[in-house]
Amino acid sequence: MSKILIVGGSKGIGSAILQLASQDHECINMSRTAPSVVSANVEHLTVDVLEDELPDLEDISTIIYCPGSITLKPVGSLKEKDFLSDYNINVIGAFKVIKKYLSIIKKQENPSILLFSTVAVGQGMPFHSSIAAAKAGVEALSKSLAAELAPTVRVNCIAPSIVDTSLASGILRSDKSRESVAAKHPLKKILTPIEIAEMAYFLISNKASGMTGQVIGVDAGLSTLKI
Ligand SMILES: NC(=O)c1ccc[n+]([C@@H]2O[C@H](COP(=O)([O-])OP(=O)(O)OC[C@H]3O[C@@H](n4cnc5c(N)ncnc54)[C@H](OP(=O)(O)O)[C@@H]3O)[C@@H](O)[C@H]2O)c1
Repeated sequence: MSKILIVGGSKGIGSAILQLASQDHECINMSRTAPSVVSANVEHLTVDVLEDELPDLEDISTIIYCPGSITLKPVGSLKEKDFLSDYNINVIGAFKVIKKYLSIIKKQENPSILLFSTVAVGQGMPFHSSIAAAKAGVEALSKSLAAELAPTVRVNCIAPSIVDTSLASGILRSDKSRESVAAKHPLKKILTPIEIAEMAYFLISNKASGMTGQVIGVDAGLSTLKI
């Protein structure tokens, strides 16, 4: 693996991936604010992927796109702009980054792309219409690109349940809500960013050289178990 581009390594899951990956690899982080991870292996570029022109890069072999949203509203409160905003940050942002750097990663060894969905695509969940629709787009994008770019570039996707990041702070706002979220999961826990980062790091590594077009649930059992 050569250089890894992490879009959204300043916070949450992306920050945990940056922490893990920068131990052994050069990483470029792209986000609107700087990451807290400090390492000689980390270069930060201040970029808003929706607003800014993406900078030219060299030698990257891997793209990890982390920006996303959690819009939870009853359908009566949802506006068209909610759908457009969720689609923009989850699908268009990822498309823009992939389109810009695809020709670069194709030239490297074991190139791969990793995107993020949500457990709410596979399971109907109340108040998730907008975000689930956008993330369904992310899953479709992952699989379509995996087919189109095989055998050269592997494309995979992780579909987490609630992860303890600032993005989920509204859902995990009190001890009571944290207990209630944990209780809904077969593993009776709230996922940590590092648990997602470990799967991300595996999927972009040579250890996952036989995997492409997969949507992997890291969801404390929520998508598949009823206990
Ligand atoms: N947390 C959960 O419970 C959960 C559950 C299911 C799925 N997911 C998905 O997992 C992914 C990561 O989630 P997370 O909880 O780690 O999110 P997060 O804590 O909000 O982190 C998102 C990262 O993306 C960056 N970002 C956001 N908008 C950007 C933009 N316009 N341009 C550049 N960078 C931007 C943020 O940095 P700046 O603010 O510095 O720009 C930040 O580093 C998302 O796709 C999310 O939908 C999360």
